[in-house]
Amino acid sequence: MRPSTLITRPPNGLHVAIIMDGNGRWAAAHGLPRPAGHRRGAETVRTIVEAAPSLGIRALTLYAFSADNWQRPPREVGALMRLFRMYLRGEASRLASIGVRLSVIGRRDRLSASLRAAIDEAESMTAQGRTVHLRLAIDYSSRDAIARAATALHDAGEPVTRAALGEALGEVLGDGEGPCARAGDVDLLVRTGGERRLSDFLLWECAYAELWFSDIMWPAFTAADLAAAVSDFHGRERRFGGLVPLPTQPAARAV
Ligand code: IPE
Ligand code: IPE
Ligand code: MG
Repeated sequence: MRPSTLITRPPNGLHVAIIMDGNGRWAAAHGLPRPAGHRRGAETVRTIVEAAPSLGIRALTLYAFSADNWQRPPREVGALMRLFRMYLRGEASRLASIGVRLSVIGRRDRLSASLRAAIDEAESMTAQGRTVHLRLAIDYSSRDAIARAATALHDAGEPVTRAALGEALGEVLGDGEGPCARAGDVDLLVRTGGERRLSDFLLWECAYAELWFSDIMWPAFTAADLAAAVSDFHGRERRFGGLVPLPTQPAARAV
């Protein structure tokens, strides 16, 4: 076995994060209004979540709505918020039945009371899920999360160490309770829709993530596309700043 194979396979499965971009352009290309693209995008979420366990994914963080997306026209924001509520209400029992634990990460104080209630209910209905941890990022900003985590440590009089900040990040994001509350570092970051940027997503957690950019618009993205990304990931050599010993390298001789 190549040393890199050992390094690229985290023991408990992968943390894959996806920037689900391209709904609006997919809709425009099909002569549909933008919300129709978001609705089709929600169907892609279902497909991808179902495919995750067979691809060795233990945590899947999906960017659904950024803190900057509030700048969009109120009609589009309203359609997205309704879609999130419908998704959570409609999917929670199915997710629970296939062992998916759902958490929503991001700010909740700017969400409507009815959406907050749908989140709470979906999180408690799926709390026993152990197959995949699905994290939906809604009203999420990575910079904001890091700043809030540092502020929380400062206010508690605790030193702002790397380990403490990582823990505090899980807490400020409302990532849920329990042993697998923190998904931790991202192994593979996927962005659909052709753009090659992070748009304030998981900046801390992606420090050593492998990146995969796809030109496919999110509503057209399939389980086979995700499998291709994961397969490519397994062929990469992750070095984390160190050196991977070559298999042919002779052992160092004592002098
Ligand atoms: C991603 O698709 C979904 C959200 C940002 C909510 P977009 O709505 O950004 O679609 P494009 O990029 O305009 O095609
Ligand atoms: C990022 O997509 C946010 C989500 C996918 C939810 P955007 O479409 O908002 O990102 P930019 O504006 O192209 O950077
Ligand atoms: Mg976009």
